[in-house]
Amino acid sequence: MIIKKATNSDLNDVLRIETEAFGHSKESNLVNDLLNDDSAKPRLSLLAMDDDGAVGHILFTRVRITGNEDALSAMILAPLAILPSAQGKGVGGELIREGLRQLSESKVHLVFVLGHPGYYPRFGFRPAGVHGFDAPYPIPAKDAAAWMVQELKPGTIGSFSGRIICADTLNKPEHWRE
Ligand SMILES: CC(C)(COP(=O)(O)OP(=O)(O)OC[C@H]1O[C@@H](n2cnc3c(N)ncnc32)[C@H](O)[C@@H]1OP(=O)(O)O)[C@@H](O)C(=O)NCCC(=O)NCCS
Repeated sequence: MIIKKATNSDLNDVLRIETEAFGHSKESNLVNDLLNDDSAKPRLSLLAMDDDGAVGHILFTRVRITGNEDALSAMILAPLAILPSAQGKGVGGELIREGLRQLSESKVHLVFVLGHPGYYPRFGFRPAGVHGFDAPYPIPAKDAAAWMVQELKPGTIGSFSGRIICADTLNKPEHWRE
């Protein structure tokens, strides 16, 4: 398994993985829009490759935190997609870990995700709301555990708080409903 940065020439693979993993084109369209959205920069777009080609994709895009725009560098993981035939083999985990490693090298302080609370905590994510980080749109109480954060710079959580503002593409209510 190799993980590489996705380039423009990988766009077809990226969009195909998103469509097949989710079974519809919503996330594929979202990724395409984010890759063309200047407010999403800096981005980190990674592809997992096995012997048969690309099998997984992960995208991180920039977010801002109200009141701390200049003090904090933060990103959001959205989306993560693995081809159905490659799921359950650790590919998602490898993409998350490598992404976090590269973001840490880039001096990112915080990474957010809205995702499965049974999956992401094993990679270091924990509930964000209770630590004072509000999602762009209110998350219903029953889904509060799905809104998560992790610090790549120790001491960030507890020292800062605020509302997260995503790239224009992601900062729309339809992406924050169930
Ligand atoms: C969810 C997904 C990214 C996980 O990637 P993966 O490579 O299959 O997962 P890994 O092999 O790294 O990890 C497997 C573990 O994740 C768990 N897992 C997979 N999907 C899960 C889900 N929807 N909710 C909770 N846990 C999940 C598995 O139960 C397994 O747990 P175990 O190790 O305790 O047996 C992948 O299955 C996928 O692309 N699914 C469709 C798209 C999607 O839902 N993306 C996530 C958006 S937040």
